[in-house]
Amino acid sequence: MDTSTTPQGFEDLVGDRQVFFQEYFNRKPLLRRGALDGGRARDLVSVRELDDIVAMETVSPAYLRIAKDGRGVPAKAYTRTVTDRGAALAEAVVAGQVYELFRSGGTVTWNALNHFLPAARHLADLFAHTFACQSEVVAFLTPAGKDGYAPHHDPVDVYVIQIEGTKDWRIWEPPAGRRADKASHRPEDLGPPAIETTLRAGDVLYLPYGTPHAAAAKDQVSLHLSVTVEPRRWRDLLADTVRHLLEDPAFDGFPHLADPAAPGTDPAAPGTDPAAPGTDPAAPGTDTAAVFQTLAARLAGLLAGTDPAAETGRLRETGRARAGTGRPREFERLASADVLAPAALLRRSPVPLEIGPSDGARSALVVNGHRLAVPDAVAEALRGLEGGRAVPAARFFPGVDEARSVHVAQGLTRLGVLETADRN
Ligand SMILES: [Fe+2]
Repeated sequence: MDTSTTPQGFEDLVGDRQVFFQEYFNRKPLLRRGALDGGRARDLVSVRELDDIVAMETVSPAYLRIAKDGRGVPAKAYTRTVTDRGAALAEAVVAGQVYELFRSGGTVTWNALNHFLPAARHLADLFAHTFACQSEVVAFLTPAGKDGYAPHHDPVDVYVIQIEGTKDWRIWEPPAGRRADKASHRPEDLGPPAIETTLRAGDVLYLPYGTPHAAAAKDQVSLHLSVTVEPRRWRDLLADTVRHLLEDPAFDGFPHLADPAAPGTDPAAPGTDPAAPGTDPAAPGTDTAAVFQTLAARLAGLLAGTDPAAETGRLRETGRARAGTGRPREFERLASADVLAPAALLRRSPVPLEIGPSDGARSALVVNGHRLAVPDAVAEALRGLEGGRAVPAARFFPGVDEARSVHVAQGLTRLGVLETADRN
Protein backbone atom coordinates (compact mmCIF):
# COMPACT_ATOMS: atom_id res chain seq x y z
CA MET A 1 0.00 0.00 0.00
CA ASP A 2 0.98 3.59 -0.41
CA THR A 3 2.32 4.42 3.04
CA SER A 4 2.36 8.14 2.39
CA THR A 5 -1.44 8.25 2.43
CA THR A 6 -1.73 7.05 6.05
CA PRO A 7 -0.03 9.76 8.06
CA GLN A 8 -0.07 9.76 11.83
CA GLY A 9 -0.87 12.89 13.75
CA PHE A 10 1.24 13.93 16.73
CA GLU A 11 -1.65 13.28 19.14
CA ASP A 12 -2.09 9.76 17.73
CA LEU A 13 1.36 9.06 19.16
CA VAL A 14 1.48 10.95 22.48
CA GLY A 15 -2.20 11.46 23.31
CA ASP A 16 -3.61 14.80 24.46
CA ARG A 17 -1.21 17.52 23.37
CA GLN A 18 -1.77 19.74 26.42
CA VAL A 19 -1.27 16.89 28.89
CA PHE A 20 1.85 15.82 27.03
CA PHE A 21 3.45 19.27 27.12
CA GLN A 22 2.44 19.99 30.72
CA GLU A 23 3.37 16.69 32.29
CA TYR A 24 5.86 14.81 30.16
CA PHE A 25 7.69 16.90 27.58
CA ASN A 26 11.28 17.49 28.70
CA ARG A 27 10.41 16.03 32.13
CA LYS A 28 9.74 12.34 32.27
CA PRO A 29 9.16 9.27 30.13
CA LEU A 30 5.68 8.56 28.77
CA LEU A 31 4.44 5.08 27.88
CA ARG A 32 1.31 4.86 25.71
CA ARG A 33 -0.03 1.38 25.14
CA GLY A 34 -1.65 0.70 21.78
CA ALA A 35 -1.31 4.29 20.56
CA LEU A 36 -1.46 2.90 17.02
CA ASP A 37 -3.05 -0.40 16.20
CA GLY A 38 -0.64 -2.92 14.68
CA GLY A 39 -1.73 -2.21 11.10
CA ARG A 40 -1.20 1.54 11.41
CA ALA A 41 2.19 1.00 13.01
CA ARG A 42 3.18 -1.25 10.11
CA ASP A 43 2.11 1.44 7.64
CA LEU A 44 4.99 3.55 8.95
CA VAL A 45 7.65 1.05 7.93
CA SER A 46 7.76 -2.65 7.09
CA VAL A 47 10.56 -5.20 7.35
CA ARG A 48 10.20 -5.59 3.58
CA GLU A 49 11.04 -1.92 2.96
CA LEU A 50 14.15 -2.30 5.14
CA ASP A 51 15.15 -5.33 3.05
CA ASP A 52 14.74 -3.21 -0.07
CA ILE A 53 17.08 -0.54 1.31
CA VAL A 54 19.77 -3.11 2.14
CA ALA A 55 19.36 -4.55 -1.38
CA MET A 56 20.02 -1.18 -3.05
CA GLU A 57 23.78 -1.93 -3.11
CA THR A 58 24.50 1.80 -3.07
CA VAL A 59 23.68 2.57 0.55
CA SER A 60 26.41 4.46 2.35
CA PRO A 61 27.51 2.86 5.65
CA ALA A 62 26.53 6.14 7.34
CA TYR A 63 22.91 5.00 6.93
CA LEU A 64 23.37 1.54 8.38
CA ARG A 65 24.91 0.54 11.69
CA ILE A 66 25.17 -2.86 13.29
CA ALA A 67 25.65 -3.53 17.00
CA LYS A 68 26.48 -6.89 18.53
CA ASP A 69 26.74 -7.74 22.21
CA GLY A 70 26.02 -4.11 23.07
CA ARG A 71 28.86 -2.70 20.94
CA GLY A 72 29.06 -1.23 17.45
CA VAL A 73 30.44 -3.50 14.69
CA PRO A 74 33.09 -1.67 12.58
CA ALA A 75 31.57 -0.73 9.21
CA LYS A 76 34.32 -2.53 7.29
CA ALA A 77 32.77 -5.83 8.44
CA TYR A 78 29.78 -5.24 6.16
CA THR A 79 30.86 -2.77 3.49
CA ARG A 80 32.91 -2.82 0.30
CA THR A 81 34.63 -0.15 -1.72
CA VAL A 82 32.82 0.53 -4.99
CA THR A 83 35.43 1.08 -7.70
CA ASP A 84 35.35 2.32 -11.24
CA ARG A 85 38.35 1.27 -13.41
CA GLY A 86 40.46 0.83 -10.34
CA ALA A 87 39.55 4.16 -8.69
CA ALA A 88 37.66 4.05 -5.38
CA LEU A 89 34.25 5.73 -5.71
CA ALA A 90 32.42 5.12 -2.45
CA GLU A 91 31.88 2.75 0.46
CA ALA A 92 28.68 0.72 0.17
CA VAL A 93 26.84 -1.77 2.33
CA VAL A 94 27.06 -5.47 1.31
CA ALA A 95 23.66 -7.11 1.82
CA GLY A 96 24.99 -10.65 2.40
CA GLN A 97 27.29 -9.52 5.20
CA VAL A 98 24.51 -7.51 6.87
CA TYR A 99 22.24 -10.58 6.91
CA GLU A 100 25.05 -12.74 8.26
CA LEU A 101 25.69 -10.33 11.13
CA PHE A 102 21.95 -10.21 11.89
CA ARG A 103 21.72 -14.03 11.91
CA SER A 104 24.58 -14.14 14.38
CA GLY A 105 22.78 -11.77 16.79
CA GLY A 106 23.49 -8.25 15.54
CA THR A 107 20.98 -5.39 15.82
CA VAL A 108 20.71 -3.53 12.52
CA THR A 109 19.96 0.21 12.60
CA TRP A 110 18.80 2.27 9.60
CA ASN A 111 19.72 5.90 10.28
CA ALA A 112 17.76 8.77 8.78
CA LEU A 113 15.12 6.51 7.27
CA ASN A 114 13.33 9.75 6.42
CA HIS A 115 15.91 10.17 3.65
CA PHE A 116 14.54 6.99 2.00
CA LEU A 117 10.89 6.34 2.81
CA PRO A 118 7.96 8.73 2.28
CA ALA A 119 6.12 7.62 5.44
CA ALA A 120 9.26 8.17 7.54
CA ARG A 121 9.73 11.53 5.85
CA HIS A 122 6.21 12.49 6.81
CA LEU A 123 6.89 11.47 10.40
CA ALA A 124 10.11 13.51 10.58
CA ASP A 125 8.24 16.45 9.04
CA LEU A 126 5.50 16.13 11.69
CA PHE A 127 8.04 16.24 14.54
CA ALA A 128 10.18 18.97 12.97
CA HIS A 129 7.02 21.04 12.59
CA THR A 130 5.82 20.36 16.15
CA PHE A 131 9.14 21.14 17.86
CA ALA A 132 10.89 23.39 15.30
CA CYS A 133 13.88 21.08 15.74
CA GLN A 134 15.82 18.67 13.56
CA SER A 135 14.08 15.29 13.53
CA GLU A 136 15.25 11.94 12.17
CA VAL A 137 13.58 8.55 11.93
CA VAL A 138 15.76 5.57 12.84
CA ALA A 139 14.71 1.90 12.52
CA PHE A 140 16.08 -0.82 14.82
CA LEU A 141 15.75 -4.48 13.84
CA THR A 142 16.86 -6.85 16.61
CA PRO A 143 16.97 -10.67 16.36
CA ALA A 144 14.97 -12.68 18.89
CA GLY A 145 16.42 -12.88 22.37
CA LYS A 146 19.19 -10.32 21.86
CA ASP A 147 20.23 -7.12 23.59
CA GLY A 148 20.30 -4.18 21.26
CA TYR A 149 22.53 -1.62 22.95
CA ALA A 150 23.94 -1.55 26.47
CA PRO A 151 22.41 0.97 28.94
CA HIS A 152 23.04 4.47 27.59
CA HIS A 153 21.44 7.84 27.12
CA ASP A 154 21.06 9.81 23.93
CA PRO A 155 21.56 13.54 23.32
CA VAL A 156 18.13 13.73 21.67
CA ASP A 157 14.49 13.28 22.70
CA VAL A 158 13.33 9.87 21.45
CA TYR A 159 9.82 8.69 20.54
CA VAL A 160 9.88 4.90 20.22
CA ILE A 161 7.16 3.28 18.10
CA GLN A 162 7.09 -0.52 18.28
CA ILE A 163 6.26 -1.91 14.83
CA GLU A 164 6.77 -5.68 14.98
CA GLY A 165 7.49 -8.21 17.70
CA THR A 166 8.13 -7.21 21.29
CA LYS A 167 10.98 -5.54 23.10
CA ASP A 168 11.82 -5.37 26.79
CA TRP A 169 12.81 -1.92 27.98
CA ARG A 170 14.50 -0.77 31.14
CA ILE A 171 14.34 2.97 31.76
CA TRP A 172 15.98 4.92 34.56
CA GLU A 173 14.93 8.39 35.82
CA PRO A 174 16.66 11.21 33.95
CA PRO A 175 19.42 12.46 36.30
CA ALA A 176 19.11 15.97 37.78
CA GLY A 177 21.99 17.33 35.68
CA ARG A 178 20.81 16.02 32.32
CA ARG A 179 23.48 15.73 29.70
CA ALA A 180 22.97 16.53 26.04
CA ASP A 181 25.65 14.08 24.97
CA LYS A 182 25.68 10.38 24.19
CA ALA A 183 27.14 8.15 26.87
CA SER A 184 26.85 4.59 28.09
CA HIS A 185 26.24 3.59 31.71
CA ARG A 186 27.28 0.62 33.78
CA PRO A 187 24.13 -1.12 35.08
CA GLU A 188 25.61 -1.20 38.61
CA ASP A 189 25.86 2.63 38.60
CA LEU A 190 22.23 3.08 37.62
CA GLY A 191 20.46 1.10 40.33
CA PRO A 192 16.99 -0.35 39.80
CA PRO A 193 15.15 0.95 36.71
CA ALA A 194 12.16 3.28 37.17
CA ILE A 195 10.24 1.53 34.41
CA GLU A 196 10.56 -2.05 33.24
CA THR A 197 8.16 -2.89 30.47
CA THR A 198 7.56 -4.83 27.28
CA LEU A 199 6.60 -2.85 24.20
CA ARG A 200 4.25 -4.46 21.69
CA ALA A 201 3.29 -3.41 18.16
CA GLY A 202 1.58 -0.02 18.31
CA ASP A 203 2.97 1.03 21.72
CA VAL A 204 4.70 4.41 21.93
CA LEU A 205 7.37 5.38 24.45
CA TYR A 206 8.74 8.90 24.91
CA LEU A 207 12.18 9.37 26.46
CA PRO A 208 13.41 12.92 27.16
CA TYR A 209 17.05 13.47 26.16
CA GLY A 210 19.53 12.20 28.74
CA THR A 211 17.20 9.40 29.98
CA PRO A 212 19.23 6.20 30.53
CA HIS A 213 17.67 3.18 28.82
CA ALA A 214 18.40 -0.33 27.57
CA ALA A 215 16.34 -2.63 25.37
CA ALA A 216 16.34 -6.30 24.39
CA ALA A 217 14.20 -8.27 21.93
CA LYS A 218 12.11 -11.11 23.37
CA ASP A 219 11.15 -14.30 21.61
CA GLN A 220 10.81 -12.89 18.10
CA VAL A 221 12.42 -10.36 15.80
CA SER A 222 11.71 -6.83 17.02
CA LEU A 223 11.32 -3.81 14.78
CA HIS A 224 10.88 -0.35 16.25
CA LEU A 225 11.22 3.18 15.02
CA SER A 226 12.86 5.89 17.05
CA VAL A 227 11.84 9.37 16.01
CA THR A 228 14.55 11.64 17.36
CA VAL A 229 14.18 15.34 18.12
CA GLU A 230 17.38 17.30 18.59
CA PRO A 231 16.68 19.68 21.47
CA ARG A 232 17.25 23.37 20.84
CA ARG A 233 17.86 24.67 24.33
CA TRP A 234 17.84 28.37 25.16
CA ARG A 235 21.58 28.54 24.61
CA ASP A 236 21.12 27.06 21.13
CA LEU A 237 18.30 29.47 20.27
CA LEU A 238 20.11 32.55 21.59
CA ALA A 239 23.29 31.49 19.80
CA ASP A 240 21.23 31.31 16.61
CA THR A 241 19.85 34.82 17.27
CA VAL A 242 23.33 36.21 17.89
CA ARG A 243 24.68 34.48 14.75
CA HIS A 244 21.84 36.06 12.80
CA LEU A 245 22.63 39.55 14.19
CA LEU A 246 26.32 39.03 13.46
CA GLU A 247 25.51 38.99 9.73
CA ASP A 248 25.57 42.81 10.04
CA PRO A 249 28.53 44.03 7.90
CA ALA A 250 29.86 45.94 10.94
CA PHE A 251 31.27 42.61 12.11
CA ASP A 252 33.09 41.74 8.86
CA GLY A 253 36.58 42.83 9.98
CA PHE A 254 39.46 40.42 10.47
CA PRO A 255 41.54 41.80 13.34
CA HIS A 256 45.08 40.81 14.10
CA LEU A 257 44.91 39.66 17.73
CA ALA A 258 48.50 40.70 18.35
CA ASP A 259 50.21 40.35 21.68
CA PRO A 260 49.62 43.68 23.49
CA ALA A 261 53.42 44.12 23.79
CA ALA A 262 53.99 43.63 20.07
CA PRO A 263 54.93 46.62 17.93
CA GLY A 264 52.08 48.31 16.14
CA THR A 265 49.53 47.84 18.91
CA ASP A 266 50.08 51.09 20.82
CA PRO A 267 46.62 52.08 22.01
CA ALA A 268 47.70 55.69 22.02
CA ALA A 269 48.67 55.67 18.36
CA PRO A 270 46.71 58.06 16.14
CA GLY A 271 43.60 56.74 14.46
CA THR A 272 42.88 54.13 17.09
CA ASP A 273 39.57 55.43 18.34
CA PRO A 274 37.21 52.75 17.04
CA ALA A 275 34.24 55.03 17.49
CA ALA A 276 35.76 57.78 15.36
CA PRO A 277 34.37 58.05 11.86
CA GLY A 278 36.64 56.69 9.19
CA THR A 279 38.56 54.50 11.58
CA ASP A 280 39.72 51.27 9.99
CA PRO A 281 39.65 48.65 12.77
CA ALA A 282 42.16 46.60 10.79
CA ALA A 283 44.68 49.40 10.46
CA PRO A 284 48.05 48.99 12.12
CA GLY A 285 48.04 50.50 15.55
CA THR A 286 44.40 49.67 16.20
CA ASP A 287 43.61 48.74 19.78
CA THR A 288 41.70 45.48 19.28
CA ALA A 289 40.40 45.57 22.86
CA ALA A 290 38.77 48.94 22.22
CA VAL A 291 37.29 47.77 18.91
CA PHE A 292 35.98 44.69 20.66
CA GLN A 293 34.27 46.89 23.23
CA THR A 294 32.63 49.00 20.53
CA LEU A 295 31.44 46.01 18.55
CA ALA A 296 30.20 44.21 21.66
CA ALA A 297 28.18 47.32 22.55
CA ARG A 298 26.78 47.36 19.03
CA LEU A 299 25.81 43.69 19.30
CA ALA A 300 24.21 44.29 22.71
CA GLY A 301 22.21 47.15 21.18
CA LEU A 302 21.05 44.96 18.30
CA LEU A 303 20.10 42.20 20.72
CA ALA A 304 18.19 44.57 23.00
CA GLY A 305 16.36 46.01 19.98
CA THR A 306 15.27 42.61 18.65
CA ASP A 307 11.49 42.16 18.49
CA PRO A 308 10.96 39.04 20.64
CA ALA A 309 7.81 37.86 18.84
CA ALA A 310 9.35 38.26 15.39
CA GLU A 311 12.59 36.60 16.48
CA THR A 312 10.91 33.58 18.06
CA GLY A 313 8.91 33.30 14.83
CA ARG A 314 12.14 33.34 12.82
CA LEU A 315 13.66 30.69 15.09
CA ARG A 316 10.56 28.54 14.66
CA GLU A 317 10.77 28.78 10.88
CA THR A 318 14.51 28.03 10.71
CA GLY A 319 14.00 25.04 13.05
CA ARG A 320 11.25 23.60 10.88
CA ALA A 321 13.07 24.06 7.60
CA ARG A 322 15.73 21.40 8.16
CA ALA A 323 17.00 18.72 5.81
CA GLY A 324 15.18 15.40 5.56
CA THR A 325 11.68 16.73 6.08
CA GLY A 326 10.81 18.40 2.78
CA ARG A 327 7.62 17.34 1.14
CA PRO A 328 8.15 14.41 -1.21
CA ARG A 329 6.69 13.60 -4.61
CA GLU A 330 6.71 17.00 -6.25
CA PHE A 331 6.55 15.45 -9.74
CA GLU A 332 3.54 13.40 -8.71
CA ARG A 333 1.90 16.53 -7.31
CA LEU A 334 2.57 18.45 -10.51
CA ALA A 335 1.27 15.59 -12.66
CA SER A 336 -1.92 15.34 -10.58
CA ALA A 337 -2.58 19.05 -11.08
CA ASP A 338 -2.74 18.42 -14.83
CA VAL A 339 -5.60 15.93 -14.49
CA LEU A 340 -7.48 17.64 -11.68
CA ALA A 341 -11.09 16.35 -11.57
CA PRO A 342 -13.86 18.87 -10.76
CA ALA A 343 -14.71 16.83 -7.64
CA ALA A 344 -11.08 16.66 -6.41
CA LEU A 345 -10.88 18.07 -2.89
CA LEU A 346 -8.29 20.82 -2.53
CA ARG A 347 -6.79 22.43 0.53
CA ARG A 348 -4.09 24.99 1.23
CA SER A 349 -0.62 23.48 1.18
CA PRO A 350 1.80 24.18 4.05
CA VAL A 351 3.79 26.48 1.72
CA PRO A 352 3.75 29.98 3.26
CA LEU A 353 1.41 32.28 1.36
CA GLU A 354 1.13 36.04 1.70
CA ILE A 355 -2.16 37.57 0.62
CA GLY A 356 -1.65 41.27 0.02
CA PRO A 357 -4.18 44.09 -0.05
CA SER A 358 -6.67 44.46 -2.90
CA ASP A 359 -6.44 47.21 -5.51
CA GLY A 360 -10.22 47.11 -5.71
CA ALA A 361 -10.43 44.18 -8.13
CA ARG A 362 -7.32 42.04 -7.64
CA SER A 363 -5.20 41.01 -4.67
CA ALA A 364 -1.48 40.32 -4.61
CA LEU A 365 -0.22 36.85 -3.69
CA VAL A 366 3.37 35.97 -2.81
CA VAL A 367 4.24 32.28 -2.80
CA ASN A 368 7.48 30.34 -3.37
CA GLY A 369 9.14 33.55 -4.56
CA HIS A 370 6.37 34.15 -7.15
CA ARG A 371 4.34 37.32 -7.05
CA LEU A 372 0.99 37.31 -8.81
CA ALA A 373 -2.33 39.14 -8.83
CA VAL A 374 -5.57 37.20 -8.52
CA PRO A 375 -9.22 38.30 -8.51
CA ASP A 376 -10.36 39.30 -5.02
CA ALA A 377 -12.83 36.38 -4.97
CA VAL A 378 -9.88 33.96 -5.36
CA ALA A 379 -7.95 35.65 -2.53
CA GLU A 380 -11.11 35.40 -0.41
CA ALA A 381 -11.48 31.69 -1.32
CA LEU A 382 -7.86 31.09 -0.25
CA ARG A 383 -8.49 32.85 3.07
CA GLY A 384 -11.53 30.61 3.52
CA LEU A 385 -9.31 27.52 3.32
CA GLU A 386 -7.23 28.53 6.32
CA GLY A 387 -7.32 25.99 9.12
CA GLY A 388 -7.22 22.98 6.78
CA ARG A 389 -10.68 23.27 5.18
CA ALA A 390 -11.00 21.54 1.79
CA VAL A 391 -13.19 22.41 -1.20
CA PRO A 392 -13.91 20.64 -4.54
CA ALA A 393 -11.93 22.14 -7.44
CA ALA A 394 -15.20 22.96 -9.25
CA ARG A 395 -16.39 25.15 -6.38
CA PHE A 396 -13.07 26.74 -5.41
CA PHE A 397 -13.71 29.99 -7.33
CA PRO A 398 -17.22 31.17 -6.41
CA GLY A 399 -19.33 32.90 -9.02
CA VAL A 400 -17.69 31.37 -12.12
CA ASP A 401 -18.46 28.21 -14.08
CA GLU A 402 -16.95 24.86 -13.05
CA ALA A 403 -14.41 24.69 -15.87
CA ARG A 404 -12.98 28.11 -15.01
CA SER A 405 -12.87 27.28 -11.29
CA VAL A 406 -10.95 24.04 -12.03
CA HIS A 407 -8.59 25.96 -14.33
CA VAL A 408 -7.76 28.55 -11.64
CA ALA A 409 -7.38 25.80 -9.00
CA GLN A 410 -5.01 23.96 -11.36
CA GLY A 411 -2.81 27.02 -11.69
CA LEU A 412 -2.66 27.50 -7.91
CA THR A 413 -1.89 23.78 -7.43
CA ARG A 414 1.03 23.99 -9.88
CA LEU A 415 2.38 26.95 -7.92
CA GLY A 416 2.13 24.93 -4.71
CA VAL A 417 -0.57 27.13 -3.09
CA LEU A 418 -3.16 24.32 -3.16
CA GLU A 419 -2.79 20.56 -2.84
CA THR A 420 -5.18 17.67 -3.14
CA ALA A 421 -6.58 16.83 0.29
CA ASP A 422 -6.22 13.05 -0.08
CA ARG A 423 -2.43 12.95 -0.23
CA ASN A 424 0.55 14.04 1.82
FE1 LIG B 1 19.12 4.95 22.67
